[in-house]
Amino acid sequence: MSRRIRLFEPFTLRGLTVRNRVWLPAMCQYSVEARDGVVTSWHLAHLTARAIGGFGLLHTEATAVVPVGRISAQDAGIWNDEQAEAWRAVVEAVRAQGAAIGIQLAHAGRKASVRQPWHGSASLTAEEGAWQTVAPSAVAFDSLAQPRALELDEIAQLPAAFAAAAERAVGVGFDLIQIHAAHGYLLHEFLSPLSNHRTDAYGGDLAGRARLLLEVVTAVRARVGDDVPVTVRISATDWAEGGLTVAESIELAKLLKAASVDLIDVSTGGNVLADIPLGPGYQVSAAAAVRTAGLPVSAVGLITRPEQAEQILVDERADVVLVGRAALDDPNWVLHAADALLGGHAAELWPPQLVRGRQR
Ligand SMILES: Cc1cc2nc3c(=O)[nH]c(=O)nc-3n(C[C@H](O)[C@H](O)[C@H](O)COP(=O)(O)O)c2cc1C
Repeated sequence: MSRRIRLFEPFTLRGLTVRNRVWLPAMCQYSVEARDGVVTSWHLAHLTARAIGGFGLLHTEATAVVPVGRISAQDAGIWNDEQAEAWRAVVEAVRAQGAAIGIQLAHAGRKASVRQPWHGSASLTAEEGAWQTVAPSAVAFDSLAQPRALELDEIAQLPAAFAAAAERAVGVGFDLIQIHAAHGYLLHEFLSPLSNHRTDAYGGDLAGRARLLLEVVTAVRARVGDDVPVTVRISATDWAEGGLTVAESIELAKLLKAASVDLIDVSTGGNVLADIPLGPGYQVSAAAAVRTAGLPVSAVGLITRPEQAEQILVDERADVVLVGRAALDDPNWVLHAADALLGGHAAELWPPQLVRGRQR
């Protein structure tokens, strides 16, 4: 390559070197129709298509570490070995295309037990198979069902559930573990004063609200060893009075760095209804701010154009960019970005089987 294009430079975290810096963020597919958390041919096809399409690393959808941690009944899980084995085929297919794959480990907390989005995302009814949701405090999200506040002995079991899931994931070949602490799901609910009203060791100041996340990170790291990158997705701001702020998220990132986290995936919002100033790259400034904590970050959110993605890296506002919805639209987004930014030099990035599509 004659021109230095940052998007196509490799990126190394611990023992993992990824072929480029355009990655696929976690995106739920709500497609486990058997409701057993076992991924299907949909997940295999969806992720493999985007590995063929040039993404460097692909995150799985939010994958539940316990059954009540699913958003919808059709979410993927990894709380048992059957689920892990089903992921193995996805991992092998993605890696065969030269991409890396990370699993996003999640617990949906008070936003669990809802319908698939194309059926309205409302809380399930008893007839539809609703389950009791849990949260730091018994405070509902918007019009969703009221959660039950977790008891201390239940909180104590969560780090082990994440660690067991991480161990299963590494056992079937996942390259990276991402812990989901964003978008109003359980770990974010603990972090935010708007959803965490606890007066015990898991509430109060940032150290208290971050305690569970730090325990999860520590348990996961102890189980996966030193070679596997562990990343955390956060919502750097709640975009709401009295909620998490970017300033607090920088302090959180320092705590996560000290706890051996390798990269922060910086999203925003999702814990309360808020007016979010949507626009191109609207979360990049939050990523750049969190990056001042001294660890790599990925930026996400309405990054849709190749030149825009490249400029974020050139300006050192993030180390990696994630392209989500634009990749639902175009699985070959990265290959098309290569054409735009590298011209004729992009040919070597295209799988030979697809080149006739490029030259038509
Ligand atoms: C269909 C869909 C499913 C999503 N599921 C998840 C998820 O499982 N975990 C997560 O952290 N974010 C999830 N997100 C958010 C995306 O990862 C991403 O942060 C968001 O779409 C903004 O990036 P974009 O503008 O490039 O799409 C989802 C988004 C979409 C559109």
